[in-house]
Amino acid sequence: MTATPDDATPSSPSPLVTFELVTLFPDLLDGYLRASLLGKAIGAGIVAVERTNPRDFAPGRHRSVDDTPCGGGPGMVISPVPVVAALEDLTARRGPAHKILLTPRGRLLDQGQVRRLSALPRIALVCGRYEGFDERVASFCDEELSIGDYVLSGGELAAAVVIESIARLLPGVLGCGLSAAEDSFSAGRLEHPQWTRPLEFRGHRVPDILLSGDHAAIARWRRREAYRRTAAVRPDLLSLHPPTEEERVWAEEWARERGGQDQNDALSAQEPRTRP
Ligand code: ADE
Repeated sequence: MTATPDDATPSSPSPLVTFELVTLFPDLLDGYLRASLLGKAIGAGIVAVERTNPRDFAPGRHRSVDDTPCGGGPGMVISPVPVVAALEDLTARRGPAHKILLTPRGRLLDQGQVRRLSALPRIALVCGRYEGFDERVASFCDEELSIGDYVLSGGELAAAVVIESIARLLPGVLGCGLSAAEDSFSAGRLEHPQWTRPLEFRGHRVPDILLSGDHAAIARWRRREAYRRTAAVRPDLLSLHPPTEEERVWAEEWARERGGQDQNDALSAQEPRTRP
């Protein structure tokens, strides 16, 4: 007897995002993907990770995936043949994916890019190794992405960064629905500082305001500290996300305080020094 929809067992819902890792080292991220929130998200079926090894598609007895650079030079270049064959195979098996080539020359990943990517149901992450890819690989991908202005020996760690940063935005991945919205960068500001017990640790006390129970005052203080930290450490974020009215007022207060302090410093510098 053939199964009808009525007697079919309920199948688990499909993942919100499936990542297709295209890597010469398919086991490299296994431990990472098993651990912590990501492991739970994969276990719960919210996120899926598939792996395809271009070496399985490399021609010849030695299944070599790279070759010397045309025109000479050091290192080896990954051939487009096995990489594109791997992309075609995963598409034929599981359907089309948004294809991202991980490379230091790509567009820089930031929280805005992470949000954009988190809306895509299937993402292929193509991880390089050695000197880089044959230029033609890029034309079979939808975009090129870098996780920072430094060079890794391969794209696998970059893939882990992309997977984790997207996964934590998906509903059901973080314990508390609010935490992702309150993260650093979510509003163009670094996260405010946090404390927990003990209230006193080696002479450092938790700020009194956090123990006041005044939720409005605490929220305002946290916004102020987030702004203070952002202005000090990442002023570039302020040009992308201009200061609000309350932030402008705080900045003026700090400038006045600094002005007073600078004057005091100048006066004490003029005072004659006395020998101890
Ligand atoms: N592969 C090597 N370095 C990289 C980087 N910075 N970002 C993405 N992929 C890479």
